Amino acid sequence: MHTYVVLLGLPGAGKGTQARRLVDSFGLYWISTGDILRRIALEEHDLAQRVKSIMESGRLVDDETVYEVVQHYLESEESRYPGVILDGFPRNLRQGEMLENYLETIHHEKGLHAVYFDMEPERVVRRLTARRVCPGCQRVYNQESHPSSMGDLCEACGEPLIQRADDAEAVVRKRIQTYLEETRPLVDYYERLAKLVKVPADDTETVVYKRLAALVERWLHSDSETLRL
Ligand code: AP5
Ligand code: MG
Repeated sequence: MHTYVVLLGLPGAGKGTQARRLVDSFGLYWISTGDILRRIALEEHDLAQRVKSIMESGRLVDDETVYEVVQHYLESEESRYPGVILDGFPRNLRQGEMLENYLETIHHEKGLHAVYFDMEPERVVRRLTARRVCPGCQRVYNQESHPSSMGDLCEACGEPLIQRADDAEAVVRKRIQTYLEETRPLVDYYERLAKLVKVPADDTETVVYKRLAALVERWLHSDSETLRL
């Protein structure tokens, strides 16, 4: 049985930062719907233009489009990895149902675990306005907490770092509102199903990582035990 780790939390809570570290340590398959949609938004067709304008407004892209993308990535690659990190999907209750249905039809059994990055909304505004990203390799930096040792260039590939279009303060505030209205109910949903673990996300990257790594290690082990039974 595969292990699926759903990362939930406010924009800027550190989901992408931690996903990269977990992928490096455990060899998991990482699906970041935000990164995939940002790539689509660079293309030249009607859907790309629609995705771009929705993302820059701080709202959610429609469920069908996102699910199609996620399903494609899951079906093409997931069997080669011990587990999958879902970073940014599901994002509302309907997407939560879509994922459940997918797991039931494809796998019969489920190894789904949700992690809630617990943080106050006011704390993430500052983090996000100081975020810089590499358009080449998608690495994430922060002018305050995690600057690049090469200044305005990416340490890994040397590309000039940029600010995400949706990290302007007004859009950040809209994204927080969208999160509270649409995504927060998923936290309660997974809690009711006893699939949720809350992790304080306002500590340093390394402290948060240690908490997550201990959980992921346990889940990978217990889910593979289930398969053997
Ligand atoms: P997405 O890209 O998923 O954005 P998000 O959820 O708003 O989250 P972020 O990526 O902004 O934050 P993060 O938690 O990953 O934080 P990070 O690690 O970068 O989605 C973007 C858009 O795409 C959505 O608004 C929507 O339009 C669309 N979309 C995506 N998925 C969708 C879906 N399923 N359905 C519909 N639409 C969808 O860290 C943030 C900053 O803080 C960085 O600078 C980092 O260096 C720093 N930092 C990280 N950890 C720490 C720490 N512990 N201490 C100090 N600083 C830290
Ligand atoms: Mg992210």
